[in-house]
Amino acid sequence: RESYNHILVERRFPDESNNNSARGGVGIITLHRPKALNALCDALFDDLIHAVQAFDEDDSIGCIVITGSGKAFAAGADISEMSTREFAHVYKKNMFAQWADITQTSKPIIAAVNGFALGGGCELAMMCDILIAGSNAQFGQPEINLGVIPGAGGTQRLIRAVGKSKAMEMVLTGNRITAQEAMEIGLASKVINSDLLLDEAVKMGFGIADKGGVAVRACKEAVNAAEEMTLSQGLMFERRMFHALFATKDQKEGMSAFLEKRKPNFTDE
Ligand code: CAA
Repeated sequence: RESYNHILVERRFPDESNNNSARGGVGIITLHRPKALNALCDALFDDLIHAVQAFDEDDSIGCIVITGSGKAFAAGADISEMSTREFAHVYKKNMFAQWADITQTSKPIIAAVNGFALGGGCELAMMCDILIAGSNAQFGQPEINLGVIPGAGGTQRLIRAVGKSKAMEMVLTGNRITAQEAMEIGLASKVINSDLLLDEAVKMGFGIADKGGVAVRACKEAVNAAEEMTLSQGLMFERRMFHALFATKDQKEGMSAFLEKRKPNFTDE
């Protein structure tokens, strides 16, 4: 698909003069529905899933960045689209179940959160692998003010990120927290001046895209497995993945390069 209605898509490479690089690129997806603070209507989410999957299949891309245009990352699910829906409809459609397709991506996704990340916007950011906050970011789960509860992970991923008391406070009061607070409680990995946010996220993305792609995917898979497994299962999973990487060319290259005191030349094989 060449064009999208509600997102902007761009591929960036570390050396701008060479945008036909075979690897090492970062795929940038900007949520762009300015009239509604990038509220996540069904059509926007279809665009997003399509673009994420296209980058996941693109061998020239090693890392994906999701950000928002204007003063919001995303102000949540689209309230005007949802307001008149009935139980039977949302149940039969299993509303929001398909959003989790984002988490099936094999490459890392960085959420570069500018401005409002509320409700589904905060939940989308939490589905990503690394969350970096712009200094103007505000996070919240305000669904309680609409007579509902979070429906895309806000009661489940948030508690894993920040613990019970803070998660309860956020979902029960609907109050927003700042970028600084998000970092202090472990929701965000760091806070970046908003003007530099996207460039910093892309720079982090280039750093990741430069590593061996098989090991990068294995890191992501192993860390995410920790959310689903007991410690002993998780440690076994990690060790087996570690062993498996000895079947890759990148392991031979990475270790030889260290011993030869040179930069590794990874090929993602
Ligand atoms: N859905 C649909 N439209 C939205 C929206 C949303 N979630 N958030 C904002 N908009 C629209 C507004 O209706 C407004 O449109 P009009 O200009 O046509 O009136 C436009 O975006 C600008 O918004 P505001 O005028 O409200 O801007 P503001 O700067 O005064 O306030 C805000 C910003 C605090 C983010 C406020 O817009 C707001 O509270 N938005 C709703 C946040 C929310 O409740 N999100 C949770 C949604 S439910 C959910 O996400 C369920 C889930 O778990 C997946």
